[in-house]
Amino acid sequence: MKQIKDIDCSGKRVFLRTDFNVPMDEKLNITDDSRIKRVLPTINHLLDKNAAIIIASHLGRPKGCFNKKLSLKPAAKRLSDILGKTVNFCDDFASAEGKKLIDNIKSGEILFLENLRFHSSEEKNDPDFAKQLADICDIYVNDAFGLAHRSHASVSAITKFAKVSCAGFLLYQECDYLKKAMQNPKRPLVAIIGGAKISSKITALKNLLNYADKIIIAGAVANTFLKIKGIDMKASKIDEESIEDVKHIIKTAEQKNIPIYLPEDCVAAEKIASRSLTFQCRVDEIPDGFMALDIGLGSFKIFQKALEGAKTIIWSGTFGVFELFYPFGYGTKSMVDIITQSSAFTLVGGGDTAAAIKELNFKNEVSYISTGGGAFLSFLSGRRMPAIDALQ
Ligand code: 3PG
Repeated sequence: MKQIKDIDCSGKRVFLRTDFNVPMDEKLNITDDSRIKRVLPTINHLLDKNAAIIIASHLGRPKGCFNKKLSLKPAAKRLSDILGKTVNFCDDFASAEGKKLIDNIKSGEILFLENLRFHSSEEKNDPDFAKQLADICDIYVNDAFGLAHRSHASVSAITKFAKVSCAGFLLYQECDYLKKAMQNPKRPLVAIIGGAKISSKITALKNLLNYADKIIIAGAVANTFLKIKGIDMKASKIDEESIEDVKHIIKTAEQKNIPIYLPEDCVAAEKIASRSLTFQCRVDEIPDGFMALDIGLGSFKIFQKALEGAKTIIWSGTFGVFELFYPFGYGTKSMVDIITQSSAFTLVGGGDTAAAIKELNFKNEVSYISTGGGAFLSFLSGRRMPAIDALQ
């Protein structure tokens, strides 16, 4: 994979694909600009080289139609504020006015294109659309790791038409760290998998059995494992469709001698609400009508022990309903405490887990936080990453 540092970008017109799919509140204020900040090394490098930068991204899932709420204008404004520099905005790169803006961009300037997903051709990986994008630049730079698992025109087909294609600093760094942690880890490697949806974690769990020395499972994902172990999880969320897969994972782990650590106790409640009645109990003593919504102190101790001596930790998925910190966020918080105090190389990914770490103000204590949500999981799952393949 070619890297931006090996390409002469001086004075060139560069198309920079980013993943500025950032969270916003109802008033369209950006609530977390990490994905913008993480592309700054690439943007600053291009500015140093006096390149003319055309930035493109997607935001949300507008399904090929204009949607004011999914405009990238707030992201362009935030970038401009961070850089202290004018960032021009192009409403539609394919319109006559858009073409004029692109034709007139000068070295050292930044032009920010509106949400590429307002064009249905983007998600269809349409070659004509990809060519149209490639034609506006001398160099194509992909720095959108968060989209590496998608086969979309601006990250996949575009490399067939661009004169030069390369990875930006962020994309390269993400691949480097993830490969290091998965394929060449310092051992023992402990994988921690949590989260609400087991179906999205099954492939990752199966693949992790090829790399991990131990696996900790928590969150709603653990409920299905506990049920298979014969525990009546009462009203807890169970994914019946994943039962066979989970049985297979348990069997393979046994055959490979990879211990799987599950919660032994939980914080149980009748409702997912901050004012609901909660108490801690063993997982086999959950009262009728109650569900497990966080881990208990006993589970924390088991996980803490399992992490002793770990040299590499990979974590995806929160432990409880972290959004309702009181009373369901302590499991995640205690796990953050352990991993941030550990001397292991710690790699965290998946939108909710990364957001929890930022919310708890611990981001500087984690070795690496991936910008990928689905992309991070795809990487853990060993799936092909079309956007990375396109750069090879
Ligand atoms: C993400 O937020 O994970 C990426 O931007 C990908 O978004 P998507 O799932 O809408 O393709």
